[in-house]
Amino acid sequence: MSLVRFLDIVTKGDDRGHLVALEYGNDIPFDIKRVYYLTDTKEGVPRGFHAHRELVQVAVCVSGRCMMKLDDGARTEDVWLDAPDKVIVIDKMIWHEMHHFSADCVLLVLASEVYDESDYIRDYKVFKGLVR
Ligand code: TYD
Repeated sequence: MSLVRFLDIVTKGDDRGHLVALEYGNDIPFDIKRVYYLTDTKEGVPRGFHAHRELVQVAVCVSGRCMMKLDDGARTEDVWLDAPDKVIVIDKMIWHEMHHFSADCVLLVLASEVYDESDYIRDYKVFKGLVR
């Protein structure tokens, strides 16, 4: 099974432009407790480099693009988030990195929990040990 799982989003666009709705209960597979977004990421700077013990997130580039690298400890998959209807699920215990941010990238993330640093696994060796 692919590590990359996109939400099945129906874009409600018309000739005025695009509209994407992400609705709790219908589209998002968890209760949304937090929303954050990354903007103005400097050229050549990657982010992420962690996994979460419990947190589940969905992420979408509402503007621009970046490349998401997912790793379950056995396999890695790279996928471009380059359209506002490409809403990816980042499951718990998935090491993830974001690379190649475009200057106009706005990466929107919906999260299943409030911020909790103790949920982070920031050491790749620790992550590998836990998923083995
Ligand atoms: P961090 O998780 O290190 O960012 P990334 O993994 O994308 O590179 O977060 C950067 C800083 O922001 C860090 O000091 C923690 C803080 N932060 C919050 O306070 N709340 C949040 O919801 C997030 C995601 C980060």
